[in-house]
Amino acid sequence: MRMRVLVIGSGGREHAVVWKLARSAVVSEIVCAPGNPGIEAIAECVPIPVMDLDRLVTLAVDRMVDLVVIGPEDPLAAGLADRLTASGIAVAGHSAAAARIESSKAWAKGVMTRAGIPIARSLTASSLADGLRAIAEIGGDGPVVIKADGLAAGKGVVVAGHRAEADAALTAMIQDRAFGAAGSTVVIEERLTGQEVSILALTDGTAIRTLAPSCDHKRLGDGDTGPNTGGMGVYTPTRHVDAALLRTIHDRILEPAVRDLREQGTPLRGVLYAGLMLTADGPRVIEFNARFGDPETQVVLPTLQGDLGRLLHGVATGTLADVPEPVHSGAAVGVILASGGYPGPYPTGFPISGLEHMETMDDVLVFHAGTKRAGGRLVTAGGRVLTVVGLGGDVRVAHDRAYEAVARISFEGRQFRSDIAHRELA
Ligand code: AMP
Ligand code: GLY
Repeated sequence: MRMRVLVIGSGGREHAVVWKLARSAVVSEIVCAPGNPGIEAIAECVPIPVMDLDRLVTLAVDRMVDLVVIGPEDPLAAGLADRLTASGIAVAGHSAAAARIESSKAWAKGVMTRAGIPIARSLTASSLADGLRAIAEIGGDGPVVIKADGLAAGKGVVVAGHRAEADAALTAMIQDRAFGAAGSTVVIEERLTGQEVSILALTDGTAIRTLAPSCDHKRLGDGDTGPNTGGMGVYTPTRHVDAALLRTIHDRILEPAVRDLREQGTPLRGVLYAGLMLTADGPRVIEFNARFGDPETQVVLPTLQGDLGRLLHGVATGTLADVPEPVHSGAAVGVILASGGYPGPYPTGFPISGLEHMETMDDVLVFHAGTKRAGGRLVTAGGRVLTVVGLGGDVRVAHDRAYEAVARISFEGRQFRSDIAHRELA
């Protein structure tokens, strides 16, 4: 088997997917839409935006691709996988119906409750009055979490320390529409405490293959301070998840979710990403996502020893049970270099220098996200610009390599966290 693969997306996550697929024994050619300058160096990029479903389907058909891998959640929620399936193309990516596991938090809660998956206690509200009542009931005067129901690019969550803060967040979402329509329904949730872990699993609707656990750092500042972001750094593996806990996560969380969606007639067929809180009472699900995590993918795939092409082909064709359990080795630490101002408004267009040093550094990978070529130079073009990944036998070595590389890359306004993986190293 030699496949032609089309990857949809333009972030660090997709760069890592393309990088890993380029190492697959069953992949002969990779096309990416729209891609980015980093991906361009290893695959053909076609400038079609991820929400231009018509042109993406036409591209897949014209190029006679054997497999499409969909990176971001928006085209999944909009039905890109359904459209490709209808055109007879194998897809690693869920139907719009199954992608609701991410695109509607309230719907996902319903799945988890039905399947007996451990979660935070929560209530859903679509009016200010109901929301205020729910805050009082779940949180009393103390901490509580307020979440916009729809897709809000990872930013529609407020972890409020007390009732007044929660009420203000609720009012902003439901009355002032701070997140637009995504906030017309709001989920009010018990605040969980513990270590947060991301589990990326692949499923064809029945079989499940779990990848190595990783830990994202969502807050902007060192010491987990400041606003939530799309993720400022990540590492894998973590001592907080051993083989026994991974088994529990499989049996109590992943398997029940996969089974429930299959029984509902909307089977998953792609990545199931479980964002977990390891509480004193065991792992609980904070959220499910319907896609590879960003930046988790940038560290998990480089440590994966298995063949990603085979795995994703198994996902797309319902033959994942035939693909061996993936094995991971070593550790990886990823540091995000972000534009000054992110996650708020930020200027772009600043030249990026130092990437030429990376070619001579062992065990360092740089995945592009917010970059573009302008006048023959590489310049910044987004909030999260690069993920700089260090690899090593353990997290300490990987950490040191990542930061050595970070020190050599610069652009105006560059910001990054200097404490990625410190929790693990303490
Ligand atoms: P989400 O978009 O649901 O992943 O939430 C973003 C972040 O908010 C998570 O990564 C957590 O750090 C935090 N968070 C979400 N739900 C809870 C919860 N129930 N308890 C504590 N923290 C939470
Ligand atoms: N790392 C968070 C996410 O991909 O949603």
